Amino acid sequence: MPAAKQRKCQPLHDWVSQNRPALPVSVLWPEKVEANARNFARGFKGKVMYAVKCNPDPEAIKAVYRGGVRRFDVASLHEIALVSDLLPDVTLYFMHPVKAPEAIRKAYSKYGVRKFVLDSEEELLKIMRMTDCATDLDLFVRIALPKHDGAGVALHGKFGALPDEAISLLQKARAVSRKLGVSFHVGSQCMEPELYAQAIRLTADIIDRAGIKVDVLDVGGGFPSHYPDMTPPADHVYFSTIHRAIAECGLKGLELISEPGRRLVVDAGAIVARVEGRKNDLLYLNDGVYGGLYDAGPSVRFRFPVALLRSRLRGMKSQAVFRFAGPTCDSHDMMEGPFSLPDDVAEGDWIVFERMGGYSDTFRTNFNGFAEYLKIYL
Ligand SMILES: Cc1ncc(COP(=O)(O)O)c(C=O)c1O
Repeated sequence: MPAAKQRKCQPLHDWVSQNRPALPVSVLWPEKVEANARNFARGFKGKVMYAVKCNPDPEAIKAVYRGGVRRFDVASLHEIALVSDLLPDVTLYFMHPVKAPEAIRKAYSKYGVRKFVLDSEEELLKIMRMTDCATDLDLFVRIALPKHDGAGVALHGKFGALPDEAISLLQKARAVSRKLGVSFHVGSQCMEPELYAQAIRLTADIIDRAGIKVDVLDVGGGFPSHYPDMTPPADHVYFSTIHRAIAECGLKGLELISEPGRRLVVDAGAIVARVEGRKNDLLYLNDGVYGGLYDAGPSVRFRFPVALLRSRLRGMKSQAVFRFAGPTCDSHDMMEGPFSLPDDVAEGDWIVFERMGGYSDTFRTNFNGFAEYLKIYL
């Protein structure tokens, strides 16, 4: 194990040996979040907005702030209240393209939110209605991107205006916006930097055809992390591809924003699950798809790095591959992996899942009564 990784993991291994947890454990290293945020902001030549949905733990949010981030992408009133209570001086961007009218009203009047995204005329009219035709709004038109399979979690098909709609929306939104922006999302865990360049070229074409002034370009989230079978190019390749495409398309005069979630938090978290039973290569765990391990399940099927912590000393064995089952009675609560572990794994041992700092605890449900878990900060 590399020295840096050993240093990070040892306190967790010690904690598990001392506490022998019977519940699943979610671990967060806030200092790692802070360092990720600082490094990202250093390389990206624009403003960084943290996508709160990825990990809304107050310690993660505060760590992102300590790393220098002052903008937060929020998708609901709950996230708005959470961030404004914790950090009253930051700027909130309400980036859900289809919002409840009451949420818009309260976001504007109670929480002072002035930045809203939309991808339809209906939403534009809703925003204007619920803010009593405010004149201090910064509106973003989210554009749809062509389908591709370059991202671990595809995000097309649900949100975004097609080019002709986007042109008409930009023209209408221009008339009522203080600042006007365009945003897109290339898909989460985007493995190909060139997909950002393609999206920027599409944006430039839309702006050109709209024939109006646009002030802000928001290149969204999607910046990837490393998983056993996914090794993306380094961050600087993404940044230079984006910066180059912006320059080539003549968009350098626009304010630039990105909305990273996963990249800032994923490698700063882990889940520890206990093995409750074993049938050959199938390990029954006390955490699963309806808990903190959704992304290991059938919808996303990420292969997270895993390590074994034995409940009692046994001889070292050769590695074997395993599948996992979560604690609920549902047959979707399965994680096929395959996950490589020592062959002597047994009931009572713990499995550490690394890279669980994003899209993990935030997905937990109470299905079958398995909501309880421990949270620790190391
Ligand atoms: C609008 C928006 N911005 C940013 C993000 C964060 O994406 P990622 O975690 O891939 O960086 C998401 C994720 O779904 C999103 O919907």
